[in-house]
Amino acid sequence: MLQNFTKGAQINVRALSKSFLHGTEELSVLCDVNLRISSGERVAIVGESGVGKSTLLHLLGTLDVPTSGTILFNDENITTMKSTRLSLFRNKEIGFVFQFHHLLPDFTALENVMMPGLIAGVDRTSLCKDAEELLDWVNLRHRMTHKPGEMSGGEQQRVALARALIMRPSLLLADEPTGNLDAQTGKEIQTLIVKMNQELNITVLVVTHSQTLADQMPRCLTMTNGTLV
Ligand SMILES: Nc1ncnc2c1ncn2[C@@H]1O[C@H](COP(=O)(O)OP(=O)(O)O)[C@@H](O)[C@H]1O
Ligand SMILES: [Mg+2]
Repeated sequence: MLQNFTKGAQINVRALSKSFLHGTEELSVLCDVNLRISSGERVAIVGESGVGKSTLLHLLGTLDVPTSGTILFNDENITTMKSTRLSLFRNKEIGFVFQFHHLLPDFTALENVMMPGLIAGVDRTSLCKDAEELLDWVNLRHRMTHKPGEMSGGEQQRVALARALIMRPSLLLADEPTGNLDAQTGKEIQTLIVKMNQELNITVLVVTHSQTLADQMPRCLTMTNGTLV
């Protein structure tokens, strides 16, 4: 059993809007999004391509700033946090998984999992032991010293999940995590995401096109044209 996971994050999104300036034209992508996610919840967002799902996840992950509105993360407004503190906050509290694994090609699975901890200055010896435990948890004990190019798509994505766990996040944001995988491999990833929520108490928000994955989430929201319905 993995240690040191605390309480899942609680999220409160209020009147969130985002527009992009395209040339001289203002393109409204998110419009007045309101969303509350309780600690330890598991939520899916589904919707057609281009409706703003990834944009919402980027804002929640503090990778981009909204045009207006607020995001409260455990009652703290993260839309006004200063950049130095924000990168520490993001590194510690939020685990990301994307459609593509975004692993560093020249590093082994073990080193990739250790990376967020190395960036945060965690002691290398304890980090290494922890990364081994996490790779074991995602059933990859036999692939620790493999580089991404020497692993299958499903294995790469499992490394990405282990990497997302190394800092003990309270929120997991997953954008089409099974979008690039076949049905069987997708199911393995799906099982692990559910386990991250149920065993480790991490609050989970998944954007997906997969009905099987959405069916694993007790709450499923639909996004259409920049709003949640
Ligand atoms: N940086 C950007 N600049 C301009 N337009 C953007 C930018 N990012 C996303 N968009 C536009 O916002 C809309 C929603 O994109 P996105 O959130 O990626 O949708 P989804 O994930 O639901 O497919 C799209 O029309 C896209 O072209
Ligand atoms: Mg998207």
